[in-house]
Amino acid sequence: DNNRFQAIISHCKEYGFVFQSSEIYDGLSAVYDYGQWGSELKKNIKDYWWKSMTQLHENIVGIDAAIFMHPTTWKASGHVDNFSDPMIDNKDSKKRYRVDHLLEAFADELEKAGKKEEGDAILATMDQLLAADDFDGLKKLIEDKKIKCTVSGTSNWTDVRQFNLMFSTQLGSVTEEASEIYLRPETAQGIFVNFLNVQKTGRMKIPFGIAQIGKAFRNEIVARQFIFRMREFEQMEMQFFVRPGTQKEWYEKWKATRMEWHKSLGIPADKYRFHDHVKLAFYADAACDIEFEFPIGFKEVEGIHSRTDYDLSRHQEFSKKKMQYFDPEINQNYIPYVIETSIGLDRCFLMVISNAYAEEDLSTAEKQDSRVVLRFAPKLAPIKLAVLPLTKKDGLPEIAREIMDECKTSFRCFYEEKDAIGRRYRRQDAIGTPFCVTVDHQTKEDQTVTIRYRDTMQQERIPINKIKELIEKQIL
Ligand code: GAP
Repeated sequence: DNNRFQAIISHCKEYGFVFQSSEIYDGLSAVYDYGQWGSELKKNIKDYWWKSMTQLHENIVGIDAAIFMHPTTWKASGHVDNFSDPMIDNKDSKKRYRVDHLLEAFADELEKAGKKEEGDAILATMDQLLAADDFDGLKKLIEDKKIKCTVSGTSNWTDVRQFNLMFSTQLGSVTEEASEIYLRPETAQGIFVNFLNVQKTGRMKIPFGIAQIGKAFRNEIVARQFIFRMREFEQMEMQFFVRPGTQKEWYEKWKATRMEWHKSLGIPADKYRFHDHVKLAFYADAACDIEFEFPIGFKEVEGIHSRTDYDLSRHQEFSKKKMQYFDPEINQNYIPYVIETSIGLDRCFLMVISNAYAEEDLSTAEKQDSRVVLRFAPKLAPIKLAVLPLTKKDGLPEIAREIMDECKTSFRCFYEEKDAIGRRYRRQDAIGTPFCVTVDHQTKEDQTVTIRYRDTMQQERIPINKIKELIEKQIL
């Protein structure tokens, strides 16, 4: 529900996970910055993906390609001609909308008003019109009286037009011959143009994959769902090159592998579902999304696409360089087929934090109490261990410092001696720290500390020299 979503957004800001970009200048629409704990969480997700894709798959290697690419790349890939969305402008409010977002927002309003069927019917009509590129039909649907009164108070719309989502800029100075280049709208093309470089220098044999993590940019028109849809975002993509004719089998295999990965984040299976695409992107012969149940409903986090030999063939055509692979097992040259797994890092971050966020009522007969806790899988938590001396004196900080020095080379730790211990625990709960150890007077007697577990709030005493080992086991 929307309240929960708003609570998560506020929590992200209050506890240093996500800030609006350039906030002192009132922000930049659909652009965000990650704060001190957000950047740790994001990095942990990134590292976990990278490790599962490359280290654990002997036939997948990673690359790190540039954001800028030769402009012909985007002609070959089809993005110059096809990577666009139908938009419409409202002449009175001077606002521009993506047609599908506008109609979806309207259907949401109808659903809230108890008229879900009416909203569904509009979306069904919209799908048909979009599939047929019937722009006049879409305009008529929007001009329908009902949309007029709800969304903008007027029916003064322009025609529906296509807008390309790529950002462009100039390479070279103005006086020189400047050429227009694009910020990449997907990381995939950096992999396709390097396919033979990697295959040859890495002596890779089909089937094999190339993985990459990096920024992508899209001039999204309606972008109003926090980090769900951004203009600057990060993708974690993997292109898996296979022998033609085997793509169906690999597509199914990657669907299953990626779903297992999602569950390994500690997120329950019933929060996920597959959504098969009916209208396929211009490069695909089969495609589906992995959808997660966000507080705003089931939405796409990852796409799995069977991209055929479309990209490599087009690059062969435009670059006039052979993109073929010689397969020694069948003694044949061919352009490989590609299965792609593509997940948005920011969207994955939103998924992880949405799943982790819990408001708990801890009231007892004696007193009212509550806490907000982020139940991250320990391997993803920004901080693994907080070390807390009970008081600032009697030599307790010194012992706590020794524990810090022992542990901080192995995982991220946090030291704090201010405020009552209960308040310190709550602050760690709010940023998702799975373990806290408290150094007290007994520590001086018997070299033990209290370890407190975030999820159960249970405490037990363990020897100082067992702390590191215990935590290392939990964060693998
Ligand atoms: N190479 C294929 C590709 O880019 P996509 O379905 O357009 O496919 C893949 O994007 C993933 O990237 C999506 O599932 C989503 O997680 C993420 N993504 C796409 N656009 C995004 C945006 N504007 N903001 C945040 N994440 C986005």
